[in-house]
Amino acid sequence: MREDLAAITWPLLDWYGENKRTLPWRGGRDPYRVLVSEIMLQQTRVAAVIPYYQRWMEELPDVAALAAADEEKLMKLWQGLGYYSRARNLRRAAEMVMERFGGRFPERYEDLLLLPGVGDYTAGAVASIAFGQAVPAVDGNVLRVAARVTGIDGDILDAGVRRRFRALVAAAVPEDRPGEWNQAWMDLGATVCLPNGAPLCGECPLARLCEANRLGLQDVLPVRKKKAPRRVEEMTVYLLLREGRAALRRREDKGLLAGLWEFPHVPGTWTDGTAAEPLAAWGLTAREWRKKLAARHIFTHVEWHMTGYVLTAAGDGEGFAWVDGRELETLAVPSAFRKFLDEARRALKEDV
Ligand code: ADE
Repeated sequence: MREDLAAITWPLLDWYGENKRTLPWRGGRDPYRVLVSEIMLQQTRVAAVIPYYQRWMEELPDVAALAAADEEKLMKLWQGLGYYSRARNLRRAAEMVMERFGGRFPERYEDLLLLPGVGDYTAGAVASIAFGQAVPAVDGNVLRVAARVTGIDGDILDAGVRRRFRALVAAAVPEDRPGEWNQAWMDLGATVCLPNGAPLCGECPLARLCEANRLGLQDVLPVRKKKAPRRVEEMTVYLLLREGRAALRRREDKGLLAGLWEFPHVPGTWTDGTAAEPLAAWGLTAREWRKKLAARHIFTHVEWHMTGYVLTAAGDGEGFAWVDGRELETLAVPSAFRKFLDEARRALKEDV
């Protein structure tokens, strides 16, 4: 494992001097131009960004022009790039530069972080490229190169591991050419240290210093652990109707959807032949089975696969609140039960 990245600085900068890509946002140090390019490049490939960037700069050449641009113009310029909140954030950032910073971009990394849509990476890129500050700009490309060079096999999707990489890269930023150095990582990641196990190590200025190259671990690094698959919970939901009212019950005060209202349900998928059994356990009897439904809801860690029955019932059902259409509107029923809620509204309107 190699923790000290200082040795790569000169080979990397020499390589960049010879091999850097010619890109329309390179050359000057105008922070506005750097910011626009970095925001556009956040989720989009360089080749796709170039024409958008050029059009944007013709229409909105400086921060004052952007702050004054109307929404329609902005959306037109961004149309096709996707993630439109980036464009809106850019304009809000321009407004902040005009109003809070008197039309001059803040130079400090910490102040740049105040701008809407600007996180660690973008603040680092602007501070280093436009203002020559020795701060890193660590994106996915940099993480890949850093994981391979150092041989560190921590999961790069893990926030703690990313902090560790960021600290290692930060410790090596050269004071005199931080902007070029950061962009050298980006270009190396984009053109040589390619993802998916296909790096061009024969052309890499860091090959002799690279742990992945030494150990043949290019396929393995960087490590990205797949997120654990979501747990699937099957359940059977009952939309019970009685004299113009539907049965609801409150969820527990702890856990998923705590304290919200729900339709009674039981774990598992209860088929037509057995679906009456939970009713008996609740002290209810079925009068008329009216409809069968299916619905799914996806949470971050769990997926609910629901089978539902709509029926009229007799009895009270322990712990149930029987609500009419008006009361139903006032209670917080989570959207996981949306389909059942819509069905309940429809049924109660029919005034069963
Ligand atoms: N990707 C993100 N920022 C970049 C930059 N400044 N140059 C090249 N590729 C990039």
